[in-house]
Amino acid sequence: MARPMVEFDLDAYVGRSRAVDLSAYAWDDVPRHPLPMEAVRTLRCMQDIEFHTIIYLRSLLATRAIDDPEVATFLACWVYEETFHGLALARFLEAAGHPVGARALPRGQEPWSKRIEAVATAMVSRAWPDFCAVHMTWGAINELTTLTGYRRLAALARHPVLTELLEKIVLDESRHFFFYYRQAEIRLRRPTVARVARRLVDTFWAPVGSGVQPRGELEFIATYLFADADGLAAARRVDETIRRLPGFSTVQLLEAWMNRYVGGRNGHGHH
Ligand SMILES: [Fe+2]
Ligand SMILES: [Fe+2]
Repeated sequence: MARPMVEFDLDAYVGRSRAVDLSAYAWDDVPRHPLPMEAVRTLRCMQDIEFHTIIYLRSLLATRAIDDPEVATFLACWVYEETFHGLALARFLEAAGHPVGARALPRGQEPWSKRIEAVATAMVSRAWPDFCAVHMTWGAINELTTLTGYRRLAALARHPVLTELLEKIVLDESRHFFFYYRQAEIRLRRPTVARVARRLVDTFWAPVGSGVQPRGELEFIATYLFADADGLAAARRVDETIRRLPGFSTVQLLEAWMNRYVGGRNGHGHH
């Protein structure tokens, strides 16, 4: 028998997909508990990343990804849930006395490099029918990084209302991760697909938020969330999980990025 695999149950996911219930949290209690300034800065950045999901969706929609009915159905619920993550984090920041304020349209903030990348993505996708495998792999890495980051944030900030909110968000992110990961696992079984996907991830991967957040913000967040022993262990688990995908056994992701830009624990990097 083939090794037992847990399948992603798309019907159950769609049936259960819910926005964060903004009326379910004790916003009035938020200012009654201390909130570290590092957590505020991290939340602002993560809120902005969630808000930018729609930009990521645009580059996905320009590819063959939506030719697959399962992927298309998933993406509809996914973007809805991510949008509410952004709204819920904004609500929390406002309750904490740090409102995010008016912002530029996401398109206006988008650097040219990202827009060129989106066009290139669409071109490669047309030329290469298996491009969806890259997007699914990319999605799996992003979702796992995000959910790991939220778990670390909850542990470090120790704010009861934030912890409760992040529990719901982490649950959503773990379902997102599972969808992308299963899709990637299946699509990467073909060695040629795995080889090209690996080459593209090696060349273009950078942590979620890169390109839409200033590098300094990402380095700050990475230091806050992942630079201590527990954080580094969590970052390693992300990398190890992705290395179990076909063709990705030696891929260098978060830990290598941390060593390069955040200084890691072995002091190669620079601050
Ligand atoms: Fe999210
Ligand atoms: Fe997500």
